[in-house]
Amino acid sequence: MEHARIPIQGEALIRDCTEDDLAELIWYSRGGAGVVKERYLRWAFEKAARGEGVFLAARFRDLAFGRCQLHWRSTGNPHLADGATSAELDDLFVHSPFRGFGVGRALVRTCIGLSDARGLRYLRVGVQASNARAIDLYTSEGFVDGGPGMLRWQDWSMAVRIMERDLRA
Ligand SMILES: CC(C)(COP(=O)(O)OP(=O)(O)OC[C@H]1O[C@@H](n2cnc3c(N)ncnc32)[C@H](O)[C@@H]1OP(=O)(O)O)[C@@H](O)C(=O)NCCC(=O)NCCS
Repeated sequence: MEHARIPIQGEALIRDCTEDDLAELIWYSRGGAGVVKERYLRWAFEKAARGEGVFLAARFRDLAFGRCQLHWRSTGNPHLADGATSAELDDLFVHSPFRGFGVGRALVRTCIGLSDARGLRYLRVGVQASNARAIDLYTSEGFVDGGPGMLRWQDWSMAVRIMERDLRA
């Protein structure tokens, strides 16, 4: 399903991630910590395929260059997405040559729209306190600081600030 078009020369779009999109997105994550990222991306793709979330891909012509996921229920982070009132936005990423064109914002807005359409009250995201660019983006989309927290996935964890968007505000 197509969700949004972004005016990078009129051709970028956001859609539900396909197998081809996934292969391209994994390609950017090769090497170093990318081993964990590849495992995570495959896990998130399968989770979305089971209907337990949404995996969005941003494409330009023949290239998937951006992504994020929505988890309706977060197993590692139940305080972020409880499966009833709140969803978690995770792994927002735009490949660096494509940054600054509004794609990150379009991905976040698509997540807000999908969570709202599902009747949820809150959309939450964990952000590293040093990530001023992402914090600016979430703040400008109505997220507020919900205090310190942890992000956990399998044996990986990271200290973050939790940001929260009240979808009824
Ligand atoms: C954060 C990220 C997804 C933003 O994607 P993007 O496509 O460049 O974002 P947009 O073009 O939609 O810009 C949205 C807002 O982000 C902020 N932003 C974008 N580029 C910025 C820059 N170079 N410096 C400071 N803020 C910036 C601004 O608030 C901007 O809004 P504005 O254009 O109205 O000023 C991208 O920088 C990225 O992938 N970063 C690495 C991964 C990451 O940090 N993900 C967040 C995890 S929580």
